Amino acid sequence: MTSAPPPFADTVLLTRRCVMRPWQDSDVALLPSIASTRKISWNTSNKFPYPFGEPEAQRLLRFSNDGAGEDVWQFAVEFGGELAGSCGAIRGTDVQAHTATIGYWLGVDYWGKGIATEMVARLVDYMTLETDIEQLTATCYGWNPASARVLEKAGFEREGVRRGVVKKWGETTDLLIYGRPLA
Ligand SMILES: CC(C)(COP(=O)(O)OP(=O)(O)OC[C@H]1O[C@@H](n2cnc3c(N)ncnc32)[C@H](O)[C@@H]1OP(=O)(O)O)[C@@H](O)C(=O)NCCC(=O)NCCS
Repeated sequence: MTSAPPPFADTVLLTRRCVMRPWQDSDVALLPSIASTRKISWNTSNKFPYPFGEPEAQRLLRFSNDGAGEDVWQFAVEFGGELAGSCGAIRGTDVQAHTATIGYWLGVDYWGKGIATEMVARLVDYMTLETDIEQLTATCYGWNPASARVLEKAGFEREGVRRGVVKKWGETTDLLIYGRPLA
């Protein structure tokens, strides 16, 4: 007999070097110091603005906790005991409710160490083993080859390109669409 998974609020995922756990109130004060940079906002939607202060951090927590474990699986990522970034998934709607879209980011000090590769691989495992989601979707901007590489290393394939549909701060680029069936 297999045991039931823990409630989402008690879910902790370990990677070789990271701890992935649900967001908690004490993260609100910590988030601006890692999240408030144009370098992250440049590669994310306008829901992740620059500057990123405590009101934006509170919104991130509300968004992460609303429907957690049912339609939303959002993890704070700790590296070396410090809050380093985020990795998670959101269920699609209507006829895409068997799919989820993933997203992730790291504070700039944590880039280039293979951390995103670890956390996305662990999220894929979790979504496969602990949820009813059958396929994952991810998008990244044409000017973000590091993110495209992270997705490819996690087994995502590029399924399409929407030409010129991303406009950020007056600059335009493509939207790359990736997919990954879950076994
Ligand atoms: C994208 C992001 C999560 C990557 O995190 P990371 O921990 O540095 O990524 P990793 O080190 O695990 O892997 C990055 C890969 O991209 C490669 N890479 C980095 N810059 C690159 C570039 N300019 N061109 C091509 N490949 C590049 C690295 O070499 C590495 O691949 P490798 O392991 O085969 O050598 C991080 O840069 C980030 O948070 N960016 C801002 C937010 C963002 O882009 N989020 C994703 C939105 S889709």
